This record gives sequence, C-alpha cells and structure tokens, in this order.
Amino acid sequence: MDNKQRVLLIISGGIAAYKSLDLIRELNRIGIGVRCILTENASKFVTPLSLTALSKDTVYQDLFSISDENTMGHIQLSRNTDLVLVAPATANIIAKMSCGIADDLATTTLLATDKPVIIAPSMNVRMWSHASTQNNISVLLKRGIKIIGPENGEMACGEFGLGRMSNIEKIGATLNNFFKTKTTKATGKLKGRKVVVTSGPTHEAIDPIRYITNQSSGKQGFAIARALQEQGASTTLITGPTQIPDPPGIYVKHITTAEEMLQSCLDCLPADIVVCAAAVADWRMKNKYSEKIKKEGEIFSLELVENPDILATVAGMKKNRPNLVIGFAAETQNLLKNASIKLDKKGCDWILANNVSKESEVFGGDNNQIKFISKNKIEEWPVLSKEAIGEKLATRIIAFLKDNKNGKD
Ligand code: C5P
Repeated sequence: MDNKQRVLLIISGGIAAYKSLDLIRELNRIGIGVRCILTENASKFVTPLSLTALSKDTVYQDLFSISDENTMGHIQLSRNTDLVLVAPATANIIAKMSCGIADDLATTTLLATDKPVIIAPSMNVRMWSHASTQNNISVLLKRGIKIIGPENGEMACGEFGLGRMSNIEKIGATLNNFFKTKTTKATGKLKGRKVVVTSGPTHEAIDPIRYITNQSSGKQGFAIARALQEQGASTTLITGPTQIPDPPGIYVKHITTAEEMLQSCLDCLPADIVVCAAAVADWRMKNKYSEKIKKEGEIFSLELVENPDILATVAGMKKNRPNLVIGFAAETQNLLKNASIKLDKKGCDWILANNVSKESEVFGGDNNQIKFISKNKIEEWPVLSKEAIGEKLATRIIAFLKDNKNGKD
C-alpha cells in the first residue's frame, strides 16, 4: 500500500458480505486503500480470489497460516492500518468483540489493534433488537467504537425492519469524514478550541414507563457538532435520546433529563464555545413515582416544576464563562420578537431563531431556516439543509474568534 489512508476491512459471515466487493471499489474510488481479513463463514459468501483482485493485496484468513504469519504477523496486520472497519458486522462478531473473544484471525486482530474501529452491523431485525446484541452494542459504544447503521428495510430472509447494512456510499462517506476530521483536527481553523453542543430532546419521567418530551430529532445539533469538529474543534456533543448514531470523532455524552444535561454541560467546562441546540423539556414532575400511576377518575393533573435553564446558567457564569454562548429559539409565532427577548433574558451572545410550526417541517426534517440574532444585528439566512446551517454557523464562529479576541459581536 502507498501513502494513502488505509483501512483493514474485516468481513464477517453475513449475507451482506457479498457487498464487500463493491465496498472495496467505493473506498478505492475515494482514495482509501483496503486490505481484507475474511472470516471462515464470510468465505462462504465471497471468495478470497475476488477480494484479492479488487484490493490488489493478500487476503488474510488464517491465524495459524505459516506463510501469512511470516510475511505479515497478526499483530502487525492489526497495526499496519489507519482504521479497522468491520463490514458486515454480524451479531456473532459484535458479541465476540464485546467480550474480547479472540478465536480466529479477525477477532484476534480486533483485540490486538490500537487503531480506531468502525463497524457496520448487518443481521436479522430480531437479532439486532435482541437485548444481548443491544447490550453488546452499548459496550462497544462506551469503548469508543463507532457504529454505522444498521438501516431499515427488507432483509434477505424476507422480514422487514432495522438490520440491513448501511449502503456502500454511506459507509464510504463516513470513512471519508473520519479521515478528513483527522486532518482538520491538526490543521482546522478551530484547532485547539473546545466546543460543547447540546442536542435532541430530553425525557422527563412521569412514572417508570411514561415521560414528557417533544418532537426534536437532534438532527440540527448533530450537524452543528459535526461542522465544528470538521473545523478541528475538540467537540463534545451532549444529546438526549435520538435515533441518530454517534458521529465518528466526536465525544458523545448520552443523557436523558434536563438536570442530567445541565450537569453534563457543567462537567465539560471550561470551554471556548457552547451551543445550546437542545429542545430541553421545560418541566419535570414535582414528585417522583417509582410505580406506574393508576387511572383514577376522568381528569388527571400532573404537578410540574420548571427545569433548570442550561443556556441561561452557562451564559450567566461569573467564572469560566465561555467566549461565545449560542442558543436557539424555536417559536411558532412572533419569531423575531420572542427570540430577541430570549437573547436578553438568557444573557447569551447569539440566538438562532427558527420557526417550528407544523407547516415549517423543521422538527424532524432535513432543512431549517434561521434568523441569526446578535446584540447588534439580525440576519435572515435562506432555507438550508441542517448540515449547511452547521457549516454557516462554524464559519460565523471562526470569523468572530478572529475579529473579536475577547469582545462580543
Ligand atoms: O426558553 P426556550 O426553551 O425557548 O429557550 C430555547 C433555548 O434555550 C435553546 O437554546 C435551548 O437549548 C435552551 N434551553 C436550555 N435549557 C432549558 C430550556 C431551554 O438550555 N431548560
């Protein structure tokens, strides 16, 4: 392999293994070199000969192969790469990774590697949703392993649901983003800056099985975190429950309630920039119920207390206040007026106001339209994808830090 980015592709034995040929082509197309390890089961779906032809390299299969060990020992194999990608990752290999089992070349390499690992799960919907798989996945996530997919759709077995391996282009784009981030971390305009982004909804328990929440998908906050990270910022994303997988290269803290989000945010300070994009539930239950509340009578009232305001707390800090504290205002009416009041009341530096009425399709959608409000200016941004808004905000932040070393916009 030459000096391009290198991926060690571990192909485990699921039906999606047949896609590995196209995956190698796609990775080569975007300038990533691939070397393969094939598990015994995977070799039932795809042949070493085809993989060798496409990867233009030896395909490694056997832990005890004298010739392979001689030319490239399994420890060397695990280190001589920039990234390890397991695609498809079956329930079986995920379980072995979670427990640290090393009973073949693929799992031994995974245990021995000191490189980042990304997996693209592929399995039947019930296998994916099984408690043991979900448990294994959360172990891997905690360990910093990134997960791409799986996706919803029809499976080879005829069932429908979550479990299809993500498409080749998505896997390619994630890897591309991973390598780009590695480079921008060293050279990006936000290099050396620490950023905290809150995102998603919070869930406030009513009792052990019911909760109060809102329609936030978390897409805007995730896009902002990604854009800032792509500019080299050391980025922490504090997210409430969402369906979005953790983005590679970002430190993700999962929380459930507003109080946990506040604590998590305070734990991350000092930081240079805090962006509060979360749709924090305004209230929580006054009393905690450890058992399910029973139906009694036609009318039932909940006694609620206001949640702490994370944005106002961070913006109002006397010590360690970040240089830039940015909030959102999601309104269904009087957008500008309500957002300007919010800027003042919360003491933040900028507000990104958006209309979240049903017709706007902002909550859950892929696009957004922002009115950018600072103490002395209002800008109307056009309708943009949430990614583009993240990038535009990152550009604004870079300009602000350049122009106002200590001042405010
Ligand atoms: O008051 P409102 O919820 O409209 O304010 C929206 C802004 O305040 C958002 O930036 C949101 O993330 C933040 N917020 C917060 N903590 C709360 C409520 C809102 O950080 N408890």
